[in-house]
Amino acid sequence: MNESRIKVIAIESAADMDRAWAIRRRVFIEEQHVPEEIEMDADDSHAFHALAILDGVAIGCGRMLEHGASEVKIGRMAVLREFRKKGVGAQILRFLIDSARTRGSRKAILHAQLTAEGFYLREGFRAVGGVFDEAGIAHRLMERDL
Ligand SMILES: CC(C)(COP(=O)(O)OP(=O)(O)OC[C@H]1O[C@@H](n2cnc3c(N)ncnc32)[C@H](O)[C@@H]1OP(=O)(O)O)[C@@H](O)C(=O)NCCC(=O)NCCS
Repeated sequence: MNESRIKVIAIESAADMDRAWAIRRRVFIEEQHVPEEIEMDADDSHAFHALAILDGVAIGCGRMLEHGASEVKIGRMAVLREFRKKGVGAQILRFLIDSARTRGSRKAILHAQLTAEGFYLREGFRAVGGVFDEAGIAHRLMERDL
């Protein structure tokens, strides 16, 4: 798969938000067994959402929340299983980071699932502190200056 065929967009329509929710449902609720009431939280309504599209098909997503004055919190990063390890996640993350910089944010934080720590380390994040449980999955706080 050629990375240049993947387009990452900011979600601006209800239809695109539905496509992101469909990805999150498959990845978090069906694959990782996160309870639906935890996965679908109130933060979606005021978050900035990104969608990765390959040949018209939505294959990945992520979101970003304002977190303090000049900080953002990245979350809900998900790529459909069959499209992983091809750089799609990195493209979504870089899109969110570029958007945060454009908005004047100076720092990004996230709660990384331990299995995804290597992915975020490669993208310049560092681990902070110990491991904690969130939705039954082991996580660690990570951060990166922008
Ligand atoms: C975490 C997640 C979003 C990453 O998305 P992705 O598209 O697989 O990410 P990338 O392809 O950019 O990078 C992932 C890995 O593939 C490797 N990779 C990237 N391009 C590659 C290529 N062309 N060939 C082989 N490996 C490649 C990267 O080096 C990276 O290695 P790692 O496994 O050691 O971290 C995805 O795995 C996912 O949806 N996981 C389930 C949900 C989840 O855990 N979300 C994170 C919550 S914190």
